[in-house]
Amino acid sequence: MADPNAFSTVVVPAAGLGTRFLPVTKSVPKELLPVLNIPAIELVAAEAAQAGAERLVIVTAPGKESLARHFQPNPQLEDLLHACGKDALAQLVRRAPGLLSVETVVQETPLGLGHAVACAEPVLTGADDAVAVILPDDILLPADTLTRMAAVRQDHGGTVMCAFTASRDRLGAYGVFDLEDATDTDAPRVRGMVEKPDPALAPSTFACAGRYLLDRSVFELLKRVRPGARGEIDLTDAVVDAIAEGQPVHAIVHSGTRHDIGDPQGMLRAAVDFALSDPAADPTLRDWLGRRLALPV
Ligand code: UTP
Repeated sequence: MADPNAFSTVVVPAAGLGTRFLPVTKSVPKELLPVLNIPAIELVAAEAAQAGAERLVIVTAPGKESLARHFQPNPQLEDLLHACGKDALAQLVRRAPGLLSVETVVQETPLGLGHAVACAEPVLTGADDAVAVILPDDILLPADTLTRMAAVRQDHGGTVMCAFTASRDRLGAYGVFDLEDATDTDAPRVRGMVEKPDPALAPSTFACAGRYLLDRSVFELLKRVRPGARGEIDLTDAVVDAIAEGQPVHAIVHSGTRHDIGDPQGMLRAAVDFALSDPAADPTLRDWLGRRLALPV
């Protein structure tokens, strides 16, 4: 029998408008924008596969069909690359389709993150007692967050969230946690959550990062969530309802690197970080950056 605490499906909401990245997102889905040469959606698929997932369900919007195409094999291109001796590039082209099985569901209108996640419900199976969610514009390094979250569900059951420490002036951009024993334990219990609070009134500086391990029952709760003040159906509202029902909700605290690649500056930071961390990368970048930083702005 399948382990009810493990997960095999990862849902990736990718139906948003990507307004922070306009005008490029007018014609290119934000999730195909690359960190160096790898599209964000492939980074997500690799992270899901590394955590042991077998299936990626991408929630797309009309016009974003090219997202699914990235996971289709392209034997013609591979043959061309092999024919001119570019075997390593052919392998790179084959990588995304080989990571895990990928399917898409469509969110016709961007009604909010909770609504996007709920769009995946019809394709869940009876074995999906827990479902992971990765937000593709949130890069967390090291990429072992879902594995840590699965271990917490093993111990406590229920839903597991991921927190990071944000500066107080930025809290209005996030869901913010009210945590029990935040300093005493690796996985504090979540007492409550507030979506995009007034920073002065926020219950903590622990903000919600883009990784969730949802108990299947959260999908039932999502059906009852009504749009909030911004007109969106929030995922956090369903989690707050789960807490109110007495379901266990815990959070791990991510203390590694986080890049918000949904924003051009954050994407640039991620690209520089990846380039500087790659031992095979062009060493002249580091020298150039050093010289550029020494120049007056
Ligand atoms: P964001 O708010 O960061 O993404 O949502 P966005 O709406 O695309 O970007 P901006 O803020 O306008 O620049 C987090 C994730 O949830 C998805 C987005 O695609 C993104 O991956 N999302 C959001 C949906 O799939 N549907 C929605 O209705 C809202």
